[in-house]
Amino acid sequence: MRPKISVIGAGNVGASLAQCLAVKNIANIVLLDIVEGLPQGKALDLQESAPVSGFNSIITGTNNYEDTAKSDVVIVTSGVVRKPGMSRDDLVKINAGIVADVTRNIVKYSPDCVIIIVTNPVDTMTYLALKTSGFPKNRVVGLSGVLDSARLSSFIAMELDVPMTEVNSYALGEHGQNMVIIARFATVNGQPITNLMSQAAIDKLIERTVNGGAEIVGLLKTGSAFYAPAASAARMAEAIIMDKKEILPCAAYLEGEYSLDDVVIGVPVKLGKDGIEEIVSFKLKEEEFEALKKSSDAVRALINTLGKI
Ligand code: NAI
Ligand code: 2OP
Repeated sequence: MRPKISVIGAGNVGASLAQCLAVKNIANIVLLDIVEGLPQGKALDLQESAPVSGFNSIITGTNNYEDTAKSDVVIVTSGVVRKPGMSRDDLVKINAGIVADVTRNIVKYSPDCVIIIVTNPVDTMTYLALKTSGFPKNRVVGLSGVLDSARLSSFIAMELDVPMTEVNSYALGEHGQNMVIIARFATVNGQPITNLMSQAAIDKLIERTVNGGAEIVGLLKTGSAFYAPAASAARMAEAIIMDKKEILPCAAYLEGEYSLDDVVIGVPVKLGKDGIEEIVSFKLKEEEFEALKKSSDAVRALINTLGKI
């Protein structure tokens, strides 16, 4: 039987994500939204692209969780987005209600799945989904560093005029203003960027990455980024479905790793069929640990606003 991936929320990220997954041809896809007709229309449109795009995945649009039953992976994109001037944290109250409700439905219909949270503020929403689901910590993971690293890598490629695919980087910490980017972990063909550009140039690229989401919000005015987020979440889902054991920076629940406890934050993880199969330990310097700690304090403060989960 083909694997099954359900995408909750058929908005900008959800619909683009369904397309990214469909062309990978790795699973059947269910697209669910509360708006009647929206997921059905987008699913049918996407299905009709199959003969030309060359995939055999079956795409189903629905408003009913029964259609998501026995999914291997469920990706949560439902929620509100920020407007210019808003931070991701401003979304916490509305999105917490949505994510908790969606999570209860996921547990009911797909008790053995891996959940990928996209909805912002993603570190806090991943924590909420983990606690609401009662799932083991390896089966709930959030999209953060894959997207932030993709932004950084693309800025590095543009600056150095090298192919995008030859750049590798890791953005850690909170998906927000307290993101932790360690320049020596960013490489072009194995060469750290610290050997390839000045500190001033690196600082500029890091600042642009930290503000990468806001840059897009400022341009779009009525929504936030979705192409790069969708591609990033699809890569995470593929790593799980195909059991790739890929090491990617993701929002993960920590219990002592990196000296942090009972918090979700972006760290390198090994993604395979069981979800987070390992929290990978990067050797950090003292000041880098401090930056990660500061980042986790910001997430913890936001988690505390949720009250008792
Ligand atoms: P959007 O507004 O285009 O789509 C959201 C969809 O969720 C809408 O179709 C809406 O009807 C649906 N929805 C709302 N409540 C629902 C519920 N209870 N059940 C099912 N569906 C429901 O928003 P977009 O651009 O797709 O973004 C979605 C979320 O993802 C936002 O919170 C955004 O901030 C976040 N995001 C996070 C990223 C990350 O790196 N973690 C990257 C990009 C977006
Ligand atoms: C972004 O970074 C909205 O969090 C999303 O674009």
